[in-house]
Amino acid sequence: MIRTASYPSLDARVAFVTGGGSGIGASIVEHLCAQRARVAFVDIERTVSETLVKTIEGRGHPAPSFIPCDLRDIAALRSAVTDVRARLRPIRILVNNAAHDERHSIESVTPEYWDDRFAVNLRHQFFAAQAVAPDMAAAGGGSIINFGSTSWLVGQGGMPAYLSAKAAVAGLTRALARDLGPMNIRVNAIVPGWIMTERQVRLWLTPEGEQELLRRQCLKRSCCPRTSRASSCSSPPTTAAPALTRATSSTAGGCDRLMDVGAPRWPPNGSGARAGPCQRPRR
Ligand SMILES: NC(=O)c1ccc[n+]([C@@H]2O[C@H](COP(=O)([O-])OP(=O)(O)OC[C@H]3O[C@@H](n4cnc5c(N)ncnc54)[C@H](O)[C@@H]3O)[C@@H](O)[C@H]2O)c1
Repeated sequence: MIRTASYPSLDARVAFVTGGGSGIGASIVEHLCAQRARVAFVDIERTVSETLVKTIEGRGHPAPSFIPCDLRDIAALRSAVTDVRARLRPIRILVNNAAHDERHSIESVTPEYWDDRFAVNLRHQFFAAQAVAPDMAAAGGGSIINFGSTSWLVGQGGMPAYLSAKAAVAGLTRALARDLGPMNIRVNAIVPGWIMTERQVRLWLTPEGEQELLRRQCLKRSCCPRTSRASSCSSPPTTAAPALTRATSSTAGGCDRLMDVGAPRWPPNGSGARAGPCQRPRR
């Protein structure tokens, strides 16, 4: 059983989570179900998503609805939102979580690949917000959470299109917060540091990488999505998401919540002022 704070205002709220089949998204789906929200999620991966539904049901929580969807296809995303609205009532919570952090070199990027990376890492966040905003406005308000990343803030390399899209999430969040605020729709971003999902551990974690991460962090421990299977880990993003979506968290709008266990921003030692995209303050 997941032990976290309980948020009665999430009871029976309809939540839509993108990329909810695995990783951080799966943990958010499970946490929201444990709060007795009515949860629907979309994901491109069928098998893991169907397994997640059964697992959550087996733990005694209300089962989430899974809708297979490639979020690069905006028509499919819109149809999923329509389907959820018809089945569960208006969507009051949107968690824009899906992304894909495939590595790529500058030389290998074609215009088509660049567009594809923006389609999987940024574009659907806007169109999901556009699709749910009328329901939220009609219901008197709602909460939208966009997932960013600290990767571009800490000077990570090796995937320029992903970093650019994730940097743009900060701008999108502020833009939406400004335009949707008058309808009492709160738009915030969760900006995780390195969270040890199965995918991260399988593909990208090395002993050297982990050592470097712990050296930079204030707290000397790794984060992983918290489920009952991994109760010794804590994951700020997955516990923060239900907290941010609850109706009583009513004052936050246009905020970035950095969830990086205290890792410093780039350049870490203040010596990079001559060596990169740093700007001298103008007098
Ligand atoms: N894990 C980290 O260290 C980390 C760090 C910073 C930011 N983040 C951000 O947090 C969020 C979740 O990260 P994660 O590590 O759990 O990611 P992940 O890759 O483990 O999971 C992403 C989910 O999105 C789904 N997905 C991918 N492409 C899709 C598509 N085209 N259509 C529909 N679904 C699709 C995947 O199937 C998967 O279930 C992302 O926005 C990511 O950028 C993660």
